[in-house]
Amino acid sequence: MLYHDAGLSFLHFTFAFILVGALAAEAFILRLPVDSRVAKLLVRVDAFYGLSALLILIVGVSRAIWGATGWDYYQAQPFFWAKLATFVAIGLLSVQPTLRFLRWNKAAKADAAFVAPASEVKSARRLVMIEVHLIVLILLCAALMARGIGG
Ligand code: HEM
Repeated sequence: MLYHDAGLSFLHFTFAFILVGALAAEAFILRLPVDSRVAKLLVRVDAFYGLSALLILIVGVSRAIWGATGWDYYQAQPFFWAKLATFVAIGLLSVQPTLRFLRWNKAAKADAAFVAPASEVKSARRLVMIEVHLIVLILLCAALMARGIGG
């Protein structure tokens, strides 16, 4: 069980670091004018973000159910549910930027001189920045949940 739990913890941190790294990269890249090269880069970075989010959800749920601590503990932890709700909220906020990156990339493939409208870049960056700040809330919930605070 110890190795099993250590393995889930390792995977959980690895996917969390990839997710946070990709999201931070998006926040910085969106400070640049979005031409064809930047649009392509955003789609690539966003793919890492999306895949790591899916994998952290699978590993996180596995850890809650089959980890050393057990589901009975987590289902009684309000900060576990707060963490999951924040994770879902971040996921929902990420939909519009993802669709925009894909649309910009498609437009750039059709027109090499394409540059995304500054207003669209600004609103995508605002959503990404909200996501980044909500990650901090996930970390707070994780630390409280792991110690049974509030449970
Ligand atoms: C951006 C997404 C996430 C980040 C950054 C994150 C971060 C963390 C961190 C830092 C810990 C260690 C807490 C500590 O020991 O103080 C942790 C533990 C944990 N996380 Fe996550 N997490 C994320 C998503 C999820 C999801 C989606 C789930 C499940 C649905 C989940 C379930 C767990 C579980 C079960 C633990 C073990 C807590 C314990 O040691 O008892 N996490 N997470």
